[in-house]
Order: sequence, then structure tokens, then C-alpha cells
Amino acid sequence: MSMEAKLERLDRLRDEAEQGGGPERIRAQHAKGKLTARERIDLLVDQGSFVEFDRYVTHRATGFGLEDQKPLGDGVVTGYGRIDGRLIYVFSQDFTVFGGSLAEAHAQKICKVMDLAVRNGAPIVGLNDSGGARIQEGVVSLGGYADIFFRNTRASGVVPQISAILGPCAGGAVYSPAITDFVFMVRGVSYMFVTGPNVVKTVTHEDVTSDELGGADAHGSISGVAQFVLDSEIQCLAEIRRLCAFLPSNNVDGPPVRRSTDPPDRRDEELLAVVPDNPNKPYDMHNVIRRVVDDGELLEVHQGFGQNLIVGFARLGGHPVGVVANQPAMLAGVLDIKASRKGARFVRFCDAFNIPLVTFEDVPGFLPGVEQEHGGIIAHGAKLLYAYAEATVPKLTVITRKAYGGAYDVMSSKHVGGDYNVAWPTAELAVMGPKGAAEILFRREIAAAADPQAKLDELVADYREKFAHPYEAAARGYLDDVIDPRETRPRLISALQTLLTKRDVAPPKKHGNIPL
Ligand code: HXC
Repeated sequence: MSMEAKLERLDRLRDEAEQGGGPERIRAQHAKGKLTARERIDLLVDQGSFVEFDRYVTHRATGFGLEDQKPLGDGVVTGYGRIDGRLIYVFSQDFTVFGGSLAEAHAQKICKVMDLAVRNGAPIVGLNDSGGARIQEGVVSLGGYADIFFRNTRASGVVPQISAILGPCAGGAVYSPAITDFVFMVRGVSYMFVTGPNVVKTVTHEDVTSDELGGADAHGSISGVAQFVLDSEIQCLAEIRRLCAFLPSNNVDGPPVRRSTDPPDRRDEELLAVVPDNPNKPYDMHNVIRRVVDDGELLEVHQGFGQNLIVGFARLGGHPVGVVANQPAMLAGVLDIKASRKGARFVRFCDAFNIPLVTFEDVPGFLPGVEQEHGGIIAHGAKLLYAYAEATVPKLTVITRKAYGGAYDVMSSKHVGGDYNVAWPTAELAVMGPKGAAEILFRREIAAAADPQAKLDELVADYREKFAHPYEAAARGYLDDVIDPRETRPRLISALQTLLTKRDVAPPKKHGNIPL
């Protein structure tokens, strides 16, 4: 065969592989408002940077007529590309081929890029769109999934792992995304569940749609399985790119520093007006964060879940940081089960990947109640405490107002290894709020008083005078300083610079036993 003919054959095979399940199925995919596997990769990576592996791989199965259907690529497109010039590995399931279902060869292709990602120290991004285990290949399909789960677990904390759910994701297939660091979902396109609506109906007699059971909003705000919820695939893929810009490529790399035009010594007069004079009035902690970080940019993680805590990525002086902040505008910023889980997972991610933590604190304590206690707030709250105490990355804390009770300890206090702890003059560090404290300490005096309310008011005022300020804690060195709110940004950037060379080695152990 001449070279020309050989090249022709190569072109033909390439073309065939790119057709996936063929024009008809591609049209059906588009008709559902979905992009194809290759279109998604094109939007994810820098233009022209994708290099594909294994496009000629086919399955080796027989039976159910499979021997007559051997589509090139076996329903998944794999390879590497660049995001902002930085290497990532990617797999993208092709729903037009056997419904994107996973079996032996399909799984082997995914495992290959996962292994390369770990070996070469680059993030792995999985674009999931699949009918699950390929039924015709039976247990081999299940084995293929387990091979992926095993690698997800081994890669956890070594390279960032990102999953986008861009179609169905059902059965045990959900466990690969669940092990990865970040799950993205798209409204109206994605759904994830262990068992779908039909099985639910049979077992529990509940009537529920796929979307209600496992759609993007269900997982973005109720279960917390999804960290990011977007309105379109295009937005979703753009948001993955934005996330990657904050992340190091692996656990021995530093996060990517980006020069900012926002001056590091910028003071902000508006910060004086953020905290209301009345300590019981809410305010939006986003206003504090945005005025402090570079260019006001915060990439929020888990935005719709446990909104009494804000977590996300930002930069200070060009250096990526993980922001954790109580949100007084939502449930007074209390710590509950959802907020504790959300915070703990985020803190551990940042610690695993050398991203310093900046905590903005205004917390009245843990949420009381039977539902919370029986739901295990003790164990969930302990997760957040454990995560902060375990974290060896630089930890900076700004107390804007309340730091009450156990929540004071938990939220990156000096005692759990805070490196730079400061408070605004509006801060109140105490075992509890003035009213609760006065009612407990002076119950008898209040009851005996001619005017109990006046007595209570007087005692509350006394208590506030004694404890509702930061100077008791500052006198003990629990705070490194009490700062002018306007100077928050320059002070944090200056402290962060000193901490970039921080060394803190935890005692050797196989692994800890976080209260899961
Ligand atoms: C083989 C599959 C398949 C599967 C879909 N297809 N799922 N082929 N194995 N699991 C094929 C269909 O036969 C069809 O082929 C094509 O993909 C498109 O599927 P449709 O049903 O036409 O598409 P749609 O109407 O959009 O419905 C999508 C779907 C549905 C909701 C995903 O296909 C479905 O319910 N599939 C089965 C899901 C499932 O039960 N999977 C096993 C889960 S258990 P043709 O040739 O007609 O176009 C599991 C365990 C994992 O995954 C365990 C890990 C430990």
C-alpha cells in the first residue's frame, strides 16, 4: 500500500472515531440541548491544545450482537490539554456510543489518563454523561468502575480531581464523582442518584421526578453532593477553567500566583461601615470578603449549600487563598451540620493542596435543637474542628464581630494552630452572648428584682462592658493584634507573605481518624 493510501486510511479512521455514534445520534444529543463529548473538550481546554489518546480502542466483548458493533473509541474521548497553558488530563464520555455506558475498554481508557495525571502531577477532569455500567458486559463493567474508584481514592490529595455531570449518572457510577474534589452540575441536564425514581417508587412509594431526586439544584443545595451548579454546559466548562486557575497542579506544587493590579496596601474606608452598631443586626459577609481580596473576586464553592458559611477561592497580593467565612446574613452565621460539613471538606482540600486559609469570623455558636443533635452536629462540628486543627497551611483569621463558645475555638483560633489571628475593635470573644450569659449567671437576681427586664438589661450592659470586646483575648496573646478594619487587606497580605515559607510537619502516622 502506498504512503498516500496509508494516510488516507488514517484519515478515514480518524474521521470515523470523531463521528462517535454517528450523525443521527449526534443530532439526538443536540436536540436534548446537550453538547457532544468532543465539543465539551473543545470548550474546556485552550484552543487547539487537546491531544487525544486511544481513539482506535474498541471493546473485546461478544454476545448481544456486540461483535458486530465496535465503535472506535468505545464511548469515551480521553487525552490531555491545557487550561491557561497548564497541563490537565481529561476524559469525556460520549453518550452517542452505547449511551456512554462504561465497560472494560472504556474503563481502561479512563484509567490510563488517571494514571498519567498522577504520574505527571496534573489535574484530571472527568466529563460524565453515561447510562452507567454497560449491561452487555456484566461484571466486567462493574470491575471497570471499581478500577476507577480505586484510582480516584489513590489520587485524592495528590492531584486535583474535578467532575462535571453532563447527563445521567446513576447507580454506583455516582461514587467516582463523589470521591473527586469538586462536582459540577448543570440545571436541566445533569442528574445523579444511586437509584432512580422508578426504584424509589417501588421501595418507598414516593413519587419524585429525576430532577427533584437528583437534579443540579437538589445536589447543589439539599444534599451538598455538587459544589457548583450552572445554567448551561458552556458556563459549566468556563467555570471549571476558572476554578483551575486557583489550583496547583499537584500536592507538591504551589498554587499559581497571578500578578494583580489591586494594590496590596489598599485601605478600604467602607469596611468601617459594614458591621452594624446593633450586634444583633445581620450584614452580608460577602461585602467584607470582596473589599479585602484582590479585585473583589471570590469563586464561591458550595454557594447554594449551608449558606450560613461562605467558602471559596480568592487571591491576596496575587496568591490564591481559601476563604472560609461565617455569614451573619444567614441564620446569624451559626454553625450547623451543613455548614460544618461544607467547611471541613473545603479546609481539607486547601490543606491537601497548599492553599493558605483565610477565615473571616462572626459566629454566635453552634445551632441548638433536637434535629441538629440527632443529626450528629457533634460529629459534623468535630469534622470542621479536626480539619482546621489538622491543616498545616498558613492560617489567617479576622474576627469581625462574634466569636462565641466552641465556635470560637473551631474557627481557626490560635489554639488550633492559627498563625495570624486578629480582630476588629467590634469583635466580641466570649463563652456566649451577653443576654444568654446574664440569664444563666444571674437567674435568681433577675427573678427577685422588682423590674426583671430592667435588671436583665443592666446585667447585659455590665457583661457587654466586661467581655464583649477583643481586649481580654488580646491580653492573653490569643489575638496577635486588634486592627483598624480599613487595614484588613494590607495586614493580611503582609502576614501571608511571612507565612509562605511556613514549615509545620505533623507527626508521622498512617492517617488520622477524622469523625466521618
Ligand atoms: C448499555 C445502554 C445503557 C447501559 C443506555 N444504553 N444505557 N447500553 N448499557 N447501561 C444505550 C441504550 O440502549 C440506547 O441504545 C442508547 O444507550 C441511548 O439510551 P436511551 O435509553 O435511548 O437514552 P435516553 O432515553 O436519553 O435514556 C438514558 C438513560 C437510559 C436514562 C441513561 O438509557 C437508562 O435508563 N439506561 C440504563 C441505566 C442503568 O440502569 N444503568 C445501569 C445502572 S447500574 P440505542 O442503540 O437504542 O441508541 C450501574 C452500576 C454501576 O451503573 C456500578 C458501579 C459499581
